[in-house]
Amino acid sequence: SKKVLFDCDTGGDDACAVALAVASPELEVLGITTCMGNQPIENTTQNTLELVRYLKTDIPVARGSQNPLVRQRWVGNPEGHRLPIPDLSEEVGPLQEKSAVEFMVDVLRSSEEKVTLIPLAPLTNIAKLMLQHPDLVREKVEEIVLMGGGMYFGNTTGAAELNFYADPEAAQAVFSFGLPVAMCGLDVCTNAYITPADNDSWKGFDNPCAKAFYSITHHSLNDGWGEFPGERTLIFDTVPVIYLLKPELFTTVKADIQIECASDLCDGMSVCDARTGLHQTDRPHIHTVVLDVDRQGYVDAVRELLKNA
Ligand code: BDR
Ligand code: CA
Repeated sequence: SKKVLFDCDTGGDDACAVALAVASPELEVLGITTCMGNQPIENTTQNTLELVRYLKTDIPVARGSQNPLVRQRWVGNPEGHRLPIPDLSEEVGPLQEKSAVEFMVDVLRSSEEKVTLIPLAPLTNIAKLMLQHPDLVREKVEEIVLMGGGMYFGNTTGAAELNFYADPEAAQAVFSFGLPVAMCGLDVCTNAYITPADNDSWKGFDNPCAKAFYSITHHSLNDGWGEFPGERTLIFDTVPVIYLLKPELFTTVKADIQIECASDLCDGMSVCDARTGLHQTDRPHIHTVVLDVDRQGYVDAVRELLKNA
């Protein structure tokens, strides 16, 4: 099985992503580091601890960055921070004593195989890891498959997606590090929507992964963050997990990706340069923009995982 490390601002969709990974026999979750993002770090960390306990796993959780790499700002939404899962206990297992970066270093050093990073939050922790331990990252990180950005549009602003807008310098550090990144941004996530009928199709599965996924998606469909209440919802952070497991469902394009860090209008925007031929950039197209998905295939993959969890 593939060894993976999550970095989360848990968060309902982060929680669904972790539930899918725990459900998959093809993935082994070595740990979850937390970051500020949609919620302050206290909340994302507590939510992550509550989640791993609910899922009946002993996945280690390490607390990460409270603030962006260089800026003094926080752009999330402090409302309604608890995960919408019935019977979730606030009594949680222990947090790692090490910081997120120290924890990732230990995991990478002690793993014989290479590890895949799945960042689902602002890239602050991952940027710190790369800046402080570049050789270790080059030697031990297999690939980076993340949720963030978008080739054609943003959500927090017209140009920028929240995870990148929250810490543009960190995102730029990750994309310019030299390792290939698969960017599951708003383009593909918007097409990977879930309907009430989809969600009902796994309602009866009697395991904690399916129950957590169902309750969070139900909340999102009805009174959560869904833009189309009662009709469809986006569970953004699940997309990198399904992409890792079933890349054949996705349409992608190779690109150079840079993150805008010095603009009022386009701050945090992921500028994806996929030009070929005459106008091709001389910057190598080392990254992958994940653009679209066979939506029915995505929903079927989610159901299959939850059924066999
Ligand atoms: C992203 O922002 C986060 O809050 C969500 O969990 C997702 O990772 C969507 O823009
Ligand atoms: Ca997230």
